[in-house]
Amino acid sequence: MGCDEVNGEPQRPRERFLVFGAPAIGEAEVEEVVASLRSGWLGTGPKVARFEDDFRKYKGWGHAVAVNSCTAALHLSMLALPLAAGDEVITTSLTFCATVNAVIHAGATPVPVDVDPQTMNLDPGQVAAAVTPRTRAILPVHFVGRPCAMDDLRAIADEHGLALVEDCAHAVEASFHGRPAGTFGDFGCFSFYVTKNVVTGEGGMVLARSEDHAARIKVLALHGMTRDAWRRFSDEGYRHYYVTEVGFKYNMMDLQAAIGIHQLARVEPSWERRREIWERYDEAFAGLPLETPAPAEPETRHGLHLYTVLVDEARAGVSRDAFLERMTWHNVGVGVHYLCLAEHPFYRHEFGWRPQDYPHATRIGRQTVSLPLSAALSDDDVTDVIAAVERSLEG
Ligand SMILES: Cc1ncc(COP(=O)(O)O)c(C=O)c1O
Repeated sequence: MGCDEVNGEPQRPRERFLVFGAPAIGEAEVEEVVASLRSGWLGTGPKVARFEDDFRKYKGWGHAVAVNSCTAALHLSMLALPLAAGDEVITTSLTFCATVNAVIHAGATPVPVDVDPQTMNLDPGQVAAAVTPRTRAILPVHFVGRPCAMDDLRAIADEHGLALVEDCAHAVEASFHGRPAGTFGDFGCFSFYVTKNVVTGEGGMVLARSEDHAARIKVLALHGMTRDAWRRFSDEGYRHYYVTEVGFKYNMMDLQAAIGIHQLARVEPSWERRREIWERYDEAFAGLPLETPAPAEPETRHGLHLYTVLVDEARAGVSRDAFLERMTWHNVGVGVHYLCLAEHPFYRHEFGWRPQDYPHATRIGRQTVSLPLSAALSDDDVTDVIAAVERSLEG
């Protein structure tokens, strides 16, 4: 296991388990949550409205609607396009299941294509080749925070009259040629899940180009009702609501927005801290038998969400799964983002997707390991992660 030994016993580099993706929570978040609890109003209300406003200003574009997850944001975006049965949505084969599940829940068919092996993002050539008369939208994922080639994807969408919806779950801070992620198409969908760059516990945001789309999403996110619940019960007096269509229970609570407001206020210093950690990893791993992330493309800003290394057993002398186990033994939490979608039984059986049809995504999914990258990591934590990686590669 490649460890120092004391009295013949292998020693771990750290005593306490380092939780993968544990967020950096400040006192401001704690105080705001407590204030929410004391206010008597926990549900959707003024803090959600403020968080939406802050987010829209941060992005400088569109209309923001807060929801309770990126999964909900993706689902509502697909419904609002709208999609019909038989419509196809081209997306990446290397993503979290939520990306394609949103398409399926909207009654349409996801069409995954292989990724570029360097960027791990949608390969525009593959996207162009997958367009059919049934294609309705392109759904790129800015994978691990690296922005997709939005100029090429926008051009394909324009050529064929397709909608563009960006899955920005990893990419709050990312930009491509000076333009922020989530502002290239009809909708940008963001995640504030516990491990993300900005967290609210569970949470998400839709950034919509059109005011009408944003209004429809707001209605769909709360049962299809015409008024937000907090307006129903506000001090203006009780207001009746009317159900105009069958919606969902996808609204964000003030309790969540209370965290998000302060997380968003610190988004840039948190990104800077992750950049420092990223650079330490790049330097420490340069000589190791691992593949480290490719540098960011010119004129882009990487969201630096996940630092992933590829463990190729032939080169590293250890399998990816053994490496995961060794890291855990060394008290360092790790992740896998993600197995190729075609590895999952549901999609194989339902759609006939086969791993061999996505060779790059399949190889990456079988070799990838995500290392801790939270802004909450101390310099000593980073040193421990580096030591654990080195030891996990030793025979
Ligand atoms: C690429 C991608 N899309 C969507 C999601 C779903 O986000 P949420 O957990 O907020 O629903 C995730 C979550 O990890 C993700 O990684």
